[in-house]
Parts: sequence; structure tokens; C-alpha cells
Amino acid sequence: MKNEVKKFNKVVLLYSGGLDTSVLLKWIQENYGAKLVTLTADLGQPDIELAAIKKKALALGAEKAYVVDVKKEFAYEYVAKAIKANALYEGTYPLSTAIGRPLIAKLAVEVAEKEGADAIAHGCTGKGNDQVRLEVGIACLNPALKVLAPVREWGLSREEELAYAKKHGIPVPAENKSYSTDENLWGKSTEGGILEDPAQAPPDEVYSLVSLPENAPDTAEIVELQFEAGLPTALNGKKLELHEFILALNPIAAKHGVGIYEHMEDRIVGLKTREFYECPAAECILKAHKELEKYVHTIHENTFKQVLEDKWSYMAYAGLWHDPLMASLNAFMDKSNENVEGTAKLKLYKGSCRVASLSSPYALYNLNLATYGKGSTFDQNASKGFIELWGLQSKLANHIAKSAKNIAKNPKAKTEVEI
Ligand code: ARG
Repeated sequence: MKNEVKKFNKVVLLYSGGLDTSVLLKWIQENYGAKLVTLTADLGQPDIELAAIKKKALALGAEKAYVVDVKKEFAYEYVAKAIKANALYEGTYPLSTAIGRPLIAKLAVEVAEKEGADAIAHGCTGKGNDQVRLEVGIACLNPALKVLAPVREWGLSREEELAYAKKHGIPVPAENKSYSTDENLWGKSTEGGILEDPAQAPPDEVYSLVSLPENAPDTAEIVELQFEAGLPTALNGKKLELHEFILALNPIAAKHGVGIYEHMEDRIVGLKTREFYECPAAECILKAHKELEKYVHTIHENTFKQVLEDKWSYMAYAGLWHDPLMASLNAFMDKSNENVEGTAKLKLYKGSCRVASLSSPYALYNLNLATYGKGSTFDQNASKGFIELWGLQSKLANHIAKSAKNIAKNPKAKTEVEI
């Protein structure tokens, strides 16, 4: 480990309580001669014991240990925006890790300002997106704060890290380190280890949250999601706050093998990475929301919104949460979600999540118009004239191209197109 010359007065460390950030806790005190304050945020990752983490941080020399439960804020200020934007990066990833980072950056800046700290330290490597999201977030909120990313610089091997932990009396948890994981109430991401070889199928153990579809119950389950202004508000008839809704739906969908997303992902730093996600509630909510939107929106709203959704997902993935474009996109999403209200029933069965039924007071679907049965009010004769005008320019373009070719071959050919 190389010694840094730069000294800091006080550093805020983003602390998970795990081995990596515990090693950082000691290492920063040793190498930067800095006082240290830790920050741990509960975004709904299971089994997070805030009191135990606080105790551990203080035992390892932190001057103060902040632990904050931000599940509600995460749900309403971050996940809600993702739901309204039907956010799926590259059409697949519900952005669970990505949308948590700007919140963590915001909390870190708040603590740093309160504590008069001059730097924020994180445990991200130099290969991922999380460093980008945290550092761009911090820079947008308070550009005077410095960032320390020791893991990016030190290149410590697993063995060296364990030796350092042993030397400094840092407890080594019996955690499964075959993969790198990150989790919050919107989902869990898993990468690394054997998963890095795309030629190999993922071992079953990769999924710890969602049942494998083949092991899921043989009986389907129907869940009812009620939406108001684009957000789910009641689950199976029970009113719930958004974070409670997601936390209640996660185990139901997970039991049925719903929420597994796997794909080849393009990271912002240029690398491709093979990713595995378990986002059970997210799959249900996004499917129900999208279908409800299609039920109440015009064709123009539906097709245009998709373009903005892809842009929103890219911006959130790329750590550009505070870019002014995001505020504009969010304003559009809020406006277009005003009448996304109603109920979707989902059928969960062995990994599949299908929208079984929909109802909404704003539905543009009209049975009298759509029916092939008796009593339709749709004037089929009106279609004839419509088709003529609708296809007029396309028809012209095709015929004119053909006749222009003929004329080029044979200048005496008829010049006019008969339409
Ligand atoms: N590839 C995902 C993303 O960039 C997941 C990152 C997981 N982070 C982690 N520290 N394991 O959002």
C-alpha cells in the first residue's frame, strides 16, 4: 500500500459494515491521518442491523457513526421516478443499484457539511459504474468536497486484505465472497466469479432471493395492484406506503420465481459485464404499470414516452441524476402519469408474471368500439377513406421510385404515375 501525502482533517466513509469498508475504515485513519465519520444507509437491504454496524464502526475507531433508515425517501424520491419512467436499462435492468447511489451521495454530502469534513471516501473499484454515480453526485451537490477512492488506487489482493484485517483486529465475516453483490428494496445485483465467463451457465446458487422457477409452487397466485397517479398504492386491497408495498410484494413474487433478469450489460466506463439481477417486486410493478399506461394513454403518448423512458434509464444508469435533463424528463413522467390509475391483476406462476386483468376509470379502451361481437358502434365504412389518405405518401413514394427507374432505363417510358 502506498502512503498518500495528502492529509485530510475529517473524512466521511460510506460504510456497509462488511470486510472491504471495515478495512478502509482503519486504512484511512492510518494513511491520511484523518478523523473519521461513517455513514450507513438502510435502503431496504435485508438483514441490515444498523445498531451492530454502528457499534462495529465505533470499535474500529470512527469518531461518529451515522446510521439512517431512508427506505421511505428511497421509495418516493428514487424508485417512484423509475416506476413512472418504466425504467429498464438496455431494456432489461430495473436499475436497482443505480438509483440508490444518488441518494447515498446526497446523504454523504449532508453528513460532510454537518461535520465539517473535507472529503468523502467510498469503497468502489475503478471498473464499475458506482464510482461514477457517487462522485458525479457529490460533485453536483458540493464541488468543494474531495473524494477518496482507496480501493481504486491500492490494488489490494484478497489475501492482502485478509492479512490487513487480521493485523488490525477487524472481524472477517463468514460471508460468501464468490460474487460481488449489492441489494436494496428494488432488487439485488450479483456479478463476478464464475459469472464472468459468458460461456458458462450460471450456477443455481446465484439466486438467493428469488426461487428458481422450476422449484416454485405448482399453483399460480393472483396479486392485485392498485395504482394512483402512476404509483402502486394498495396490494390485494390493502393500502400501503410505497416502500411497504415493495417490501410486501418482494417475497410473494420471489416465491413464484418472478424477477430474474440476466443480461450482457454495457457499463459507462466502456466495459461489458455479465449481470444477474433479482428484482421480484420490480418486475410485477413495472409490468402492471406499463400495461395500465397502455390502457389509458393514446398511441402518441405510448410511442413517444418509450423514447424518453430509454433516455431516462440511460441517464440514471450513467450517474447523471442531477443533470437538468433529468428534471425535465421527470416533469414529463409526472404529467403523463396523472391519469395512470386503476387496478391490474397479475398471475404469478413458475417464473412468469402475466397481466391477467385491467380496470381503470381512464381507460381509452372501449368495448363497444372494439368488439367483434354484436352492437359495435365502430363505423367500418370510415376505414376505407382513412386507408386511402393514410397510405397516400407511402404509395406515391413507391410508385414514383419505380417509374423513375423505368425512365432511367428507357427515357421514352411513360413519365406520369397513374394514381
Ligand atoms: N451493474 C450494476 C450497476 O451498475 C450493478 C452494480 C453492482 N454493484 C456492486 N457494488 N456490486 O448498476
